[in-house]
Amino acid sequence: MIDLKLDSIDNELIEKAREVRRMSYSPYSGFAVGAAVYDEKLGFFTGTNVENSSYGMTVCAERIAVFKAISEGAKDIRKIAIIADDVSFVSPCGACRQVIFEFGDEIEVIMTNLKGDIKKTYIKDLLPFGFRLKK
Ligand code: THU
Repeated sequence: MIDLKLDSIDNELIEKAREVRRMSYSPYSGFAVGAAVYDEKLGFFTGTNVENSSYGMTVCAERIAVFKAISEGAKDIRKIAIIADDVSFVSPCGACRQVIFEFGDEIEVIMTNLKGDIKKTYIKDLLPFGFRLKK
């Protein structure tokens, strides 16, 4: 897996993910996650995980951030950052990988935690042979 270097947008993206994480609705797991997406034209969009009494209805922070961006007109998603209070950097679940992959196989994924452990790579490296309908 390629290890990419951080740039100044990445640092801003991580900061936005860290800030929005405070809005997480996660009373069942107690695991608060923040995510932030960067679109080339429209800039930043954020999301948190939102849990539910019917546990399976829970939606991850990454999907909320991506869906907010897309539904606001984002067409050029370039990056997503994810943060949680975890022992190591937090890595997106399989469902979120597929959702991110839909919008570009070279989207950069910046995985981090509150301690500052960090890994940055391409979504195609996190989801080899990801599914896409041929148009
Ligand atoms: N979660 C995320 O929001 N993103 C991830 O990448 C991993 C898991 C959430 C779902 C649930 O609310 C909590 O973390 C524990 O699984």
